[in-house]
Amino acid sequence: MNDNDLNFVHHWEKGTDLNGPTLLLLHGTGGTELDLVDLGQSLLPGANLLSPRGQVSENGMARYFRRLAEGVFDLEDLHRRTGELAAFVTSAAAIYGFDPSKVIAVGYSNGANIAASLLLSGTETLAGAILFHPMVPFEPQPLPKLKGIPVFVGAGRQDPMVPEGLTNRLVELLTAAGANVETHWEAGGHHLNRNEIEAAKIWMKGANLWN
Ligand code: MLT
Repeated sequence: MNDNDLNFVHHWEKGTDLNGPTLLLLHGTGGTELDLVDLGQSLLPGANLLSPRGQVSENGMARYFRRLAEGVFDLEDLHRRTGELAAFVTSAAAIYGFDPSKVIAVGYSNGANIAASLLLSGTETLAGAILFHPMVPFEPQPLPKLKGIPVFVGAGRQDPMVPEGLTNRLVELLTAAGANVETHWEAGGHHLNRNEIEAAKIWMKGANLWN
C-alpha cells in the first residue's frame, strides 16, 4: 500500500508517539482538512492528527455526506460514506503506522454527524469521540455495542440547527448503546466557542481514552 490508496484529500501529522492516540479531525460544512488542525493540537498536544476532507460538494462546500435539506439527510449516501470513511481510517493506519485502536474523532457539525454515524453504525473505528454540535444522523436498529466508549457532546441551548431535543436523543441513543457520554451545554448557538473547547480538553484528560 502507498498513500495513493488513501482516496480522501487529507492532512496527516505524526505526533510525538505513533503508538499513542490519533485524532480524526472532521470539519463542518464548507470546511477543509486544515480547519481543525489547531484545535486538535490544543485538545491533545502531541497526538497524531488525521484530517480528511469531505468528498461531497454542496454548491462548492465540502461535506462528508449528502443532505436533502438542512438537517434532512440522504441516508443511503450517509451509510455508504460512513463505510468509506471507516475504510480510509483503516488504510491510513496501515500506511502511516498509527494504532487503529486509538482513534478519537473530533468533529464539528457535519463532521460531528459523520463521527456519530461511525459510532452508531458499529464500525468500531473509534475509541472515543468529541462531538461539537451534532444531530442524530440516523436511528440505528439494532443499537451497536459501544462498550463504555467515552463520548463528549458539546451543544448550544440556542442552536438554531440543533434543537435541544435532538441533542438529547443522540445522547440517549449513544448511552443506550453503552457509550459513556458527557454532555456540555453552552447558552449560545451553533458556533464552536472557547468554553466548550476548554470543557472538551478537561474531559480528554479524565476520560481514560487509552485503557
Ligand atoms: C449536517 O448537514 O450535517 C448538519 O446540517 C450540519 C451542517 O450543516 O453541517
